Amino acid sequence: MKVVVFILIGLFANPLWAKSFTYTDAHGVKNTWSVKKLLMHKQLVNIKNQNTEAFPGAPQSFKAIALHHLINSKSDGKADQLKFSCTDGYSKVLSKKVSTFMRSKLSGPTAFLAIEDPKNPWPDLAGFHKGKHRGSAGPFLIFWRNEGTRKMKDQPWSVVSLQTVKSDPAEAIKPTNASLIATKGHKLFVKTCFACHTINLKGEGSMGPDLNYPESPIEYFGKARLKRYIRNPDSVRIYKSGRMKGFNKESLSDSELESIIIYLQHMAKNRP
Ligand code: HEC
Repeated sequence: MKVVVFILIGLFANPLWAKSFTYTDAHGVKNTWSVKKLLMHKQLVNIKNQNTEAFPGAPQSFKAIALHHLINSKSDGKADQLKFSCTDGYSKVLSKKVSTFMRSKLSGPTAFLAIEDPKNPWPDLAGFHKGKHRGSAGPFLIFWRNEGTRKMKDQPWSVVSLQTVKSDPAEAIKPTNASLIATKGHKLFVKTCFACHTINLKGEGSMGPDLNYPESPIEYFGKARLKRYIRNPDSVRIYKSGRMKGFNKESLSDSELESIIIYLQHMAKNRP
């Protein structure tokens, strides 16, 4: 008897059981599911050999639920966009197209929420960073199936919530009276940097610092050093907990990098 009690205490004392996932619909109504509840969900499936961005080159088995079973609130409009948030401050408003796929029961890319089972924890995130493990990808991560020829890039890990939003914060950091190249830079910034950095304190990402307020790195680094930072942060600054990975030419070409710089230059002249 004692043994059973201890095992039970051990099981429920595991903080992973207490973690939860929240979905907030268009009217601000919150739905919250604990790990335990999700692992008992009737739509839970086992998926083997799934590739994810959290574990590149190392397919994993996951217990997962197609997200449309959780977020198909009738009150959400078709055009509403979804925002996800992660425990480390990584947060992004998904495009209308990706948001629609995430809600959709129809054929085409299907998003799944993987749930880390405390009885069978996931491996740590791949790679060491500054001599330390990068930590856990749990308690939840999102992956896609039935992608066809599309490559669904939004596969956040350590994700804990989804929310329906009425306005896209990308609009709030759009350059006005800008050159074509600054406008292109804005789009690329939203795609590549905005999940971690705000501009003029606007945006959802909070992992890294604001990149325009009160000063812009274009001012305190200058153009050449800023470019070097984006390619290889450690060549300019060593943060003990450095969490920004550099962008190589495959992930951001020279001309793309240039347009992001032009966008930042433009915004440095447009600050509240
Ligand atoms: C995964 C999150 C993430 C992404 C994506 C990201 N950054 Fe960062 N960035 C950070 C963090 C966190 C820091 C603070 C230093 C650190 O921990 O690495 C930082 C620091 C910086 C700094 C230094 C600011 C200072 O004052 O020291 C600059 C400049 C910067 N990022 C630019 C960019 C640009 C431009 C992009 C897009 C091309 C980008 N970052 C994408 C997380 C990110």
